[in-house]
Amino acid sequence: MKHLCDLLQIDLPIIQGGMGNISNAELASAVSEAGGLGTIGCGTMTPIEVEKIILLTKKLTKRNFAINIAINVSPYTKELIDLIIKHNVPVVTLSAGNPVPYISVLQDHGVKVLVLVASVKHAKKAQAAGADILVAEGFEAAGINSNLELTTFALIPQIVKHAEIPVVAAGGIGDGKGLAAAFMLGASGVQIGTRLIATQEAPFHEMYKQSLVNARDTETIIVGRSVGMLRRLLNTPFSRKLDEREKEGLTPDQYGEMTSELQHIKGAIEGDLENGFINSGQVAGLIDHIPSVQELFERMMQDAKQQINRTAKELESMIKKEYK
Ligand SMILES: Cc1cc2nc3c(=O)[nH]c(=O)nc-3n(C[C@H](O)[C@H](O)[C@H](O)COP(=O)(O)O)c2cc1C
Repeated sequence: MKHLCDLLQIDLPIIQGGMGNISNAELASAVSEAGGLGTIGCGTMTPIEVEKIILLTKKLTKRNFAINIAINVSPYTKELIDLIIKHNVPVVTLSAGNPVPYISVLQDHGVKVLVLVASVKHAKKAQAAGADILVAEGFEAAGINSNLELTTFALIPQIVKHAEIPVVAAGGIGDGKGLAAAFMLGASGVQIGTRLIATQEAPFHEMYKQSLVNARDTETIIVGRSVGMLRRLLNTPFSRKLDEREKEGLTPDQYGEMTSELQHIKGAIEGDLENGFINSGQVAGLIDHIPSVQELFERMMQDAKQQINRTAKELESMIKKEYK
């Protein structure tokens, strides 16, 4: 945990996951100011759009923050790498594509590189290519998902077993118990997405935040299996329509159109759940209020500590009884 925080120069082992085109300076800087690592997700944004967000984030916080490039989603990966170097962005997360060509280029300029993986095979590949940190994401997570469908509880310890670099757990973490569990599985920290949507600083539509507060455990759906491009969404009129259309038969291009960043912005920013989608992880059922990022992190750290202490004491007393 400490090694991860030292590497990233942050106070708390909590990273905000990148959030496509809807990530912005307000949320990223609030996360960094609260001691975690805020992230600007590039999605399909142009380098000019991303540059504006980098400059604003730098105004709002002097602390470290990261940029997420979803390699196969962005048409501008190469240009974004140049932009990161130009602005001395300290940390980059690479996801949804082959990170190998970019790792050493970034590291040569002092950038720490996190690579998002969803299997031991991908973790080994990223590690061999020199990644500084692995973010292992389970199938519980919101948004674009691996078609390997491994869940966090099984995935993390298997990746930790083969990793020589810190592993960050992502997918299904939304409170102190989840944070404690991630440590117990061998992770050095966590990356969270869904839980951060329902915070005061997240500049998303109130309908999005409230839908997460209202959601039950079974309220996410996976779309895209028919075209091999999985995504976890909240169950809404639009995601049900998408599901129906998929059952009737959608081409990858038609599916891509229905899940484009245009529809994402309609759902997440405009609150139009008929014509746009909202990403959500299975952890939505745990969300019951809308705290500030700082309150959320403080509570998570305190609860994780209590959970770990209580469990350690109980284990200790059982071991004593057993071997007396
Ligand atoms: C609205 C939203 C958009 C996301 N967009 C991206 C993205 O562009 N790139 C990426 O690597 N992950 C993306 N994710 C995944 C998150 O970065 C994070 O890894 C994931 O949400 C963790 O699982 P959780 O939702 O259970 O906390 C997105 C998640 C959400 C909620």
